[in-house]
Amino acid sequence: MPHAFKTETQLINLGRHPLRDKGSVNPPVHRTSTVLFQNFAEYENYEKGEGEHRGYGRYGTPTSDSLEEALCALEGADHAFTFASGLSAVTTAMLTFAGAGDHILVPDSVYASTRKFCKYEVPRLGIDITYYDPTIGAGIEALFKPNTKYVYCESPGSLTFEMQDIPAIAKVAHAKGALVLADNTWATMLHQKPFDLGIDISIHSATKYVAGHSDVLIGAVMCKAAHYKQLKRVHHNLGGCAQGDACYLALRGLRTMGLRLKEHERNALIVAQWLEKHPAVNRVLYPALPSDPGHALFKRDMTGACGLFGVELGKVSSKAVGKMLDGLHHFGIGFSWGGYESLVIAYQPHKIRTATKWEEGSFVLRLNIGLENTDDLIEDLDAGLKRLMATK
Ligand SMILES: Cc1ncc(COP(=O)(O)O)c(C=O)c1O
Repeated sequence: MPHAFKTETQLINLGRHPLRDKGSVNPPVHRTSTVLFQNFAEYENYEKGEGEHRGYGRYGTPTSDSLEEALCALEGADHAFTFASGLSAVTTAMLTFAGAGDHILVPDSVYASTRKFCKYEVPRLGIDITYYDPTIGAGIEALFKPNTKYVYCESPGSLTFEMQDIPAIAKVAHAKGALVLADNTWATMLHQKPFDLGIDISIHSATKYVAGHSDVLIGAVMCKAAHYKQLKRVHHNLGGCAQGDACYLALRGLRTMGLRLKEHERNALIVAQWLEKHPAVNRVLYPALPSDPGHALFKRDMTGACGLFGVELGKVSSKAVGKMLDGLHHFGIGFSWGGYESLVIAYQPHKIRTATKWEEGSFVLRLNIGLENTDDLIEDLDAGLKRLMATK
């Protein structure tokens, strides 16, 4: 599909091959482990690394090909790999580009499960990690060591939503011969073009807005040609491939992703602007708001936002937070985001941060604003914040 088509049109057409698929509008699901060889000669060729046969279902199917083709074009990548979850995409990318004796730089605001992987698994493999302040920009230079292999980025950061100056970080990293790996899930492939910003390896949890319906886990890593062989090898050897049904659901989600994302952003802005004025709220952590410290970077690097943001409540008791959350009608208490329904979780950033300071005991809510009517969401939050304020 030529890149000249507009995004809305691409979202409808990418990865679909009705002529190939006997007229089916949607690519069929290939549920495949064994992929039979036509004969012994084809098998022998495969074993020699020759020919077109992919060998085994773990190495891809026509359904994963369709999804990878679509994601690749939207992202402006040369290659895409799909994974059993976003976390599998993150960990495979991280392990591909560093090994024993290497050093990596990871933002303090990185997604909590990525951080757990960095805490418990990465050091066991002999890889040294420095956590950095996500707002460090070009100042990252001071943290480089001779063996630094890459800077990992996530902009905005998980839970606290700090925007990162990725072009400034990439300039330093590339001058030092290091790569930039980035989790681009929040911006999605519609709102940020990672390779234009200097990112070398782009990672997504397609579980979120791509799939969009809270019914599937799937991840993707995208790269330019230079890193294809390395990523392919590790993707194949770690075995975290995406199943056909997951690829199908992600492709189906993709068709309406543009529409959904616009509505998520519109709803989130209405709710965030209302929350900004609420007396129980210290700060709303959402780069799409003009008042956010990351707003200038957001305007420079992204063409839009998603519906996920933070609400800093300050020091309140966990009893008060419980009173608020337990009575909400439209916000389920749960992890993940990017689905059609509103969600909330509460957390205390100081418990997981080491390179940046967060007030001890201060609570932040993370809201996933869904596709409900914002009047209902605001009414629900207003009643919840009243319960919070009334509880010691
Ligand atoms: C920023 C970010 N990256 C990656 C992931 C992991 O994705 P998955 O849940 O598909 O494993 C998440 C999940 O919440 C996330 O928030």
